[in-house]
Formats: sequence, C-alpha cells, structure tokens
Amino acid sequence: MHRFEAYLEKNLPTVDSFHPHYNKALATMLLAGGKRFRPMLLLSVVEAYEPLLFEASLAPALSLEFLHTYSLIHDDLPAMDNAPLRRGFETLHITYDEATAILVGDALNTEAFYHLAKASLRDDIKIKLVELLARDGGTYGMVLGQSIDLHFENQPLSVEQIKTLHINKTAKLIATSLMMGTVIVGLEKRKQDEIYQFGIDLGLLFQIQDDIIDETQSDEEAGKTTGNDVDKNSFVNLMGLEKSIEEAETLAENLNQRFNAFDDVLQNGLRDIIEKYLYRHR
Ligand code: IPE
Ligand code: IPE
Ligand code: MG
Ligand code: MG
Ligand code: MG
Repeated sequence: MHRFEAYLEKNLPTVDSFHPHYNKALATMLLAGGKRFRPMLLLSVVEAYEPLLFEASLAPALSLEFLHTYSLIHDDLPAMDNAPLRRGFETLHITYDEATAILVGDALNTEAFYHLAKASLRDDIKIKLVELLARDGGTYGMVLGQSIDLHFENQPLSVEQIKTLHINKTAKLIATSLMMGTVIVGLEKRKQDEIYQFGIDLGLLFQIQDDIIDETQSDEEAGKTTGNDVDKNSFVNLMGLEKSIEEAETLAENLNQRFNAFDDVLQNGLRDIIEKYLYRHR
C-alpha cells in the first residue's frame, strides 16, 4: 500500500492556473487518507497472479480511488447527505463552497478515466477497464444507488430493496475493483464471474458495516459525520442494530467459506484484506 500512496502523491492533478485554490481543493480529500479499500482489492489480485504487472496496475488502482473520492465529495454535499466531516477533515463545501465541491467531484470523475486511458497496459485491456468502471461506478451502479438512497429518504423500503440499494451504491464498485484486477491478469471468465459475485457480497457486507458504524461510532472515531442516517434506508433503521450485526455476521461467514474455496494463489493475495474487513462489525 505504501507504493500506492507514493503513486497517488506523485499523480495528484496539478494545474498551472491563477485560480487561488484549485490544486489544493483537488488534492485535499485524496491526501486526507481513507482506507484505500478499492485500490487494495485490485492490486491484491494483480500481485497474486502477475506481480510483474503491479507497477502498471497502479494507474487503474488510482482511477478507482479517484472515482470513489468523487462519490464521497458529492455524497457529503448539502443536497445529498449534508456532512461537514470526511476522512478526518472538514468537507470541501465547508472549507470553500458548494461550487468547489461539485467541481472537484467532477474533476476526479474524469481524472479517473484519464489515468485509465494513459495506463501502460494493452489497449484491449484498458477498454475493458473503462467499460467496467463506467458501468459500475456510474449509471448502472453507484449513481443509481445514490439516486435510490436519496429519493427514498423517509420512505421505508423492503429488505430486498435495501439490498439492491446497497449493491448499487457500494457493492458494484467494490466488485468491479476485484474484476478489474482479474481482467489485468487475464483470468478465465468463469473465475472472473465467481470473483465478481464474491465482490458483490463483500460490498454488501461493507455497506451494512458502514450503516452499523453510523450508529455506533462517533465522528472522531469514524473520521466522518456519523448519526447521519436518520432519514435513510439503512440496515440499522430497518432491522435495528442487533439484527444488522447478525446479518453482517451471517454474510461474513458465508464469504469466509467462499474465500477458503478460492485457489491458494488468490487466497494468499486477498488474505490480509479479508482478515481486516470481514469482521469489522464486531
Ligand atoms: C465510505 O467508503 C462510503 C461507502 C461506500 C460505504 P469507505 O469506507 O471506503 O471510505 P474511505 O475511502 O475509507 O474514506
Ligand atoms: C455512500 O454511502 C456511498 C457512496 C456511493 C459515496 P454513505 O452515505 O452511507 O457513506 P458515508 O457513510 O457518508 O461514508
Ligand atoms: Mg449517502
Ligand atoms: Mg453519506
Ligand atoms: Mg454511511
């Protein structure tokens, strides 16, 4: 991960302009940290199967973090979740203004595809990566999920509908992070599909855990505004804290079994992440 951080710092968007804080605003949320969960997933798959492609995979890993960070910046806007704290720092619309936060999000969204296009990978692979990131990070994934999340505030959905919401807003980008790794190393389709489905359930678990964090952690602990889901179709609001933790536990156990059935190479690559995130609701 150390190599990813160094790569990110070296590849921060910087523009020669008379704008007083354009570069700083673009960099703030990227440098503020975050778990780097999505780039780690991609890089772990690559490191497992084709370590020689690790270096060339830093660009697609960065593209995931750019797109994800854009989604967080917009998620915190007053028109969305209206949150003043993210990754331990004041959100951009507080430090600057809403226009800046909107535009930084826009910039990081396009910057993601800029880095994918420039990656030192085969053209056919890059086109597939663009397709996956655009599909799952956009209209058919994250953006759809965010739209459902916001449209149905204070209108209770069913458990199945909340799962669909979580799969779109969070799980698809997580699944696609693993999938992009499998495309870079050229795994066969059957294996790609299995890993993608694993990623969907891992992402669903990740968002259930995030809903639990909103209920159980302080702003300081989480580094972001918590207690912020009162109007939301969160797992905790639907079934209560205890049942949400049970649901997370069941899903984590199921994922653990599927993980143990992966080939040794993939297990070795993903073990650290799995150990770190599978049971974070406990
Ligand atoms: C937060 O994502 C938003 C969700 C999709 C749950 P992360 O929990 O990965 O946030 P960072 O990247 O660590 O800040
Ligand atoms: C946001 O979900 C998911 C995104 C696509 C950004 P949340 O609104 O629950 O994320 P947090 O809790 O603010 O990080
Ligand atoms: Mg939200
Ligand atoms: Mg939010
Ligand atoms: Mg949340």
